[in-house]
This record gives sequence, C-alpha cells and structure tokens, in this order.
Amino acid sequence: MSLDLDAKKTLLRKIPHGLFICGVREGDEVNGFTASWVTQGSFEPPMVVMGVRADSTSHGIIERTGCFSLNVLRADQKDLAAVFFKPQKAMGGRFEAAPFQEGELGLPLLDDAIGGVECSVIGKVKHGDHTVFVAEVKSARLLADGEALNLASTGWNYGG
Ligand SMILES: Cc1cc2nc3c(=O)[nH]c(=O)nc-3n(C[C@H](O)[C@H](O)[C@H](O)COP(=O)(O)O)c2cc1C
Repeated sequence: MSLDLDAKKTLLRKIPHGLFICGVREGDEVNGFTASWVTQGSFEPPMVVMGVRADSTSHGIIERTGCFSLNVLRADQKDLAAVFFKPQKAMGGRFEAAPFQEGELGLPLLDDAIGGVECSVIGKVKHGDHTVFVAEVKSARLLADGEALNLASTGWNYGG
C-alpha cells in the first residue's frame, strides 16, 4: 500500500481545531505553548487528548510532572496565540505577554481568556514526532464565556 502524501495532507488539514495555550509547571518554572491538537476524550470522567511535539520543552515537563493546563482563548486573541509559538528568550518568557494565576494544581491559568482547565495525565502514546497525552480534567475556571479562537480563522496551518 502506498500513501498519497498530497491527499493525506489535504484531508488531515480538514480536521477542525481550536487554539489553546497549554501551560506547564516544574518546580518554580512555568512554560506555555500554543496547542491546536486538542480534543475531548471522555464525558465521565472528563478527559482531553492532546498531541505534543516530542522535541519541545513542554513535552519533557508534561512527561515528568504528569499534568498541564489548557487555556481557551477568545476569538480576538490571535496575537497572543502567536506569542506562544514563537521562540522565547528564556523558559516561561511568553507569559510576560499574558499574566496568569496558579490553579488548584499549580498550573498557569491566564487572567485574560475564556477560561482554563487543569488536567492530570492518565496515559500516553509515544510514537512518531508527537506524543499523544490523555488526561483527566481536574479543575475548570470559566472567566467570561464567548466565542473561542479557532485555527481556521487565523489562516495558519498545523497539520497535514
Ligand atoms: C498554529 C499552531 C498550532 C500548534 N499546535 C501545536 C500542538 O497542538 N502541539 C504541539 O506540541 N505544538 C504545537 N505547535 C507548536 C508549538 O506551539 C511550538 O513548538 C512551541 O514553540 C513549543 O514550545 P516549547 O518548546 O517552549 O514547549 C503549534 C504551532 C502553531 C503555529
């Protein structure tokens, strides 16, 4: 069987995605990155599934600490999403553009967003260039409900 790479790319890019800021913490250090490969995985217990680049800083932190937060951005927060995928001077530096508070698990929850959840990892599939983490939602903080940012509206691509 041969994989048609152009067809694969076109088709996989049809999967709709939101855009989130994933937050991590290890000791006194926090970090955050823009994540789009996120979906819900179970009602009860509530679970989410996220694909994380194996060579990213945050990947190692999630593996070692077993938890992460997901902040849901408003539709008008595209600029902030861009801050969180660009290189930073030092780990956690991206949060200079986005003040946060610690949630119940100590993870970064943005002050300006629709809200955020904190998640505890219960399983992972490590294969290829991303690791798929499955995690249970342990806390949820809703700040102000509204329309969320999605990948299609930005003109960016991550996938294919
Ligand atoms: C539109 C867009 C969506 C992205 N989605 C993801 C994602 O779902 N998972 C991921 O690991 N990286 C994703 N990235 C890449 C990370 O944001 C980027 O690699 C970041 O620099 C990682 O930060 P870190 O090394 O400090 O952890 C995305 C990038 C862009 C531009």
